[in-house]
Amino acid sequence: MAKIQAIRGMNDVLPQDSVVWQYLEAQVKDVLDAYGYSEIRMPVVEYTHLFKRSIGEVTDIVEKEMYTFEDRNNESLTLRPEGTASCVRAAEEHGLLFNQTQRLWYQGPMFRYEKPQKGRYRQFHQIGVEAFGMSGAELDAELILLTARLWKSLGLLEHVTLELNSLGSSEARAHYRQVLVDYLLQFEAQLDEDSKRRLASNPLRILDSKDPNTQDILRQAPMLEDYLDEESKEHFAELCHILDTNGIRYVLNPKLVRGLDYYNRTVFEWTTSSLGAQGTVCAGGRYDGLVAQLGGKSTPGAGFAMGVERLVLMLETLQLVPESARQTLDLYLAAEHKGLQAALISLAEQLRTAIPGLRLRSHCAGLKNINAKAQQAGATLALIVKQNGESLCGTLWQDGSPQEVNAEGFVAAIVAALNKQV
Ligand code: HAM
Repeated sequence: MAKIQAIRGMNDVLPQDSVVWQYLEAQVKDVLDAYGYSEIRMPVVEYTHLFKRSIGEVTDIVEKEMYTFEDRNNESLTLRPEGTASCVRAAEEHGLLFNQTQRLWYQGPMFRYEKPQKGRYRQFHQIGVEAFGMSGAELDAELILLTARLWKSLGLLEHVTLELNSLGSSEARAHYRQVLVDYLLQFEAQLDEDSKRRLASNPLRILDSKDPNTQDILRQAPMLEDYLDEESKEHFAELCHILDTNGIRYVLNPKLVRGLDYYNRTVFEWTTSSLGAQGTVCAGGRYDGLVAQLGGKSTPGAGFAMGVERLVLMLETLQLVPESARQTLDLYLAAEHKGLQAALISLAEQLRTAIPGLRLRSHCAGLKNINAKAQQAGATLALIVKQNGESLCGTLWQDGSPQEVNAEGFVAAIVAALNKQV
């Protein structure tokens, strides 16, 4: 019978990689704590219209990438393709946005039916941040400073570039949209097929086109920055000023428009050249209209999400995972013969009580090459327990060299040796 395999683009995370995920998650959590963000956990499935109304009907995600199905009650549900819409829905539903500011973060799997390749999967994981009730550029700056601090703590800062743009107000964008369409219509026949289609539905996304002909045509196109409203220009200048003051380097990218419709004013992406084609590791921006668009009282919002798989790949490729992150055991414990197994378990329990935080694995199989097995398991110390009359004694291995531990004061000696390690 054929073996059942995982679904294409949906990956298992094996123990040798899950330690890197845990390392990354712990670093992110430390940084989020440092900025006063609170965790929110949302369901993985939502009503389909939540995503249609927020991400936009004519975006790649909604048009071709959502995992949508009908449940037994004939309701159309969708596996979340991103977290912002759910976060806004949850915050609004539970009254978190009423007359107060919120700084929230979440993590978990997202689902998009994309063509899988390195760094691009159908189930992938994001850690996202959403902040509500703050309309000033200082909040946009905080989000960027927070991410920069994270890159620094991970050793990634010199491997990523911050790209920045402003999309202006929705009115300014609507005006620019018309100007852009009028310009592109002159070259309609030369545009790539996707861009032709987008001319009517979502012309700003044409700026993102990778097609060389379309890119040529775009070189002479009117620029969004020339159509920005005064307030958005001031907002953007203030953001750049705060970033400059804090030593954050960035590249202005007037073609950065993002693939989701809810953004206004600031948009940004952190990109890297060390991953190949899928080089965006973190992206976000401001979405001041989204809460109202989903039926809430008008509340400004801004946030970003980072792709966990891409960051893990980067840490591994650039060899930036510290050895301590892979060290998951302090002691590997084995008994010299089967008759000592019960005593071994009691000893293990005693040690766990004596040393909080001790990471101890008991050996439960054959007794060959215990020391090598301990090293394989990544333990700092290995202890082989033996019997001396009625008492226990043993051999403690560290870095390949053995040390005999006598029966007298046996447990105390082990505890002392471990306390040096833990
Ligand atoms: P996004 O740009 O669609 O934005 O995704 C954010 C990040 O998720 C990307 O930069 C990338 O690192 C990762 N990502 C996206 N798709 C995949 C995939 N198929 N495989 C692996 N990684 C992927 C959003 O989702 C917005 N909700 C971000 C946001 C939050 N804006 C404001 N608040």
